[in-house]
Amino acid sequence: MIKKLCVVGAGTMGAGIAQVAAEGGIETTIRDVEERFVERGLQTIRTFIGKKLEKGKLDRERHDEILDRLRGTTDLAAAVAGADMVIEAVFEDLALKKKVFAELDSLCGRDTILSSNTSTLSITAIASATENPERVIGTHFFSPVPLMRLVEVIRGEKTAERVVEATTEFCRAVGKTPVMAKDVPGFIVNRFLCLLYNEAADQIEKGYATPEDIDLGLKLGANHPMGPVEIMDMAGVDVVLNALKALYEMTGDERYRPSPLLERMVRENRLGRKTGRGFYTY
Ligand SMILES: NC(=O)c1ccc[n+]([C@@H]2O[C@H](COP(=O)([O-])OP(=O)(O)OC[C@H]3O[C@@H](n4cnc5c(N)ncnc54)[C@H](O)[C@@H]3O)[C@@H](O)[C@H]2O)c1
Repeated sequence: MIKKLCVVGAGTMGAGIAQVAAEGGIETTIRDVEERFVERGLQTIRTFIGKKLEKGKLDRERHDEILDRLRGTTDLAAAVAGADMVIEAVFEDLALKKKVFAELDSLCGRDTILSSNTSTLSITAIASATENPERVIGTHFFSPVPLMRLVEVIRGEKTAERVVEATTEFCRAVGKTPVMAKDVPGFIVNRFLCLLYNEAADQIEKGYATPEDIDLGLKLGANHPMGPVEIMDMAGVDVVLNALKALYEMTGDERYRPSPLLERMVRENRLGRKTGRGFYTY
């Protein structure tokens, strides 16, 4: 059972993961490279939990208990001391992740589970930086972590069964539903989502359908809560293009070759909500 967790990287995902762990009753330490990043991560969590208190979703006692379970530091050795599990959520860069895992492998006790929140990199490749690859696993949370209920659990080539079991139990303890995914590019969900985004862009490019009709079509005809076009505008057309490029590069599968429309939109800075114009105008 995971009682003590360390999260490495206090950005968007690290802060979200630390929050749900603390809410799930787990002592959690978050570590980043600079004090201001640690503080920013902790502040994101305080704001989120504070809103729950305001809305009456939490009482004061539970609010305080959750925040009491959270610590922040820049000292990696102190952060991992006594941890049953470490979840890495640093930038998506294989060389950086390997360096972090090599450090974690030498600092943590043999039984500590080492997990990566990578969305595109191979768990087996990350595990190769350690001397104990059997304790390395993937836990792919979705953004925003406090709201999204899924975690894809990815077994590397050498991941031990006890590590898989403890990890799926951990996911449930923090209120998430785990699914097992193979260590393949895009795991399960992003392989689907990227196809959907590319198809939507292709239909718009060819003049087969308007963004409005595609979104209505999938909402009313397939019961999707949001249309793929509005999601692309929300996530950022550049982010979608990069995800497709990465999947296309890794799989060589023509289905993931990015639609020329996405390339053009990024060149024209039509990135979606963040630039005021994407498929829709804001
Ligand atoms: N943002 C998403 O929607 C999303 C969804 C699923 C998975 N992911 C994956 O999660 C990981 C983190 O993504 P993010 O969006 O939170 O990134 P982010 O840029 O918001 O945060 C990354 C953090 O890692 C810190 N960092 C860098 N090197 C470090 C080190 N050596 N030790 C400790 N901290 C370090 C940075 O200072 C930064 O605060 C990536 O692998 C990403 O692919 C992201």
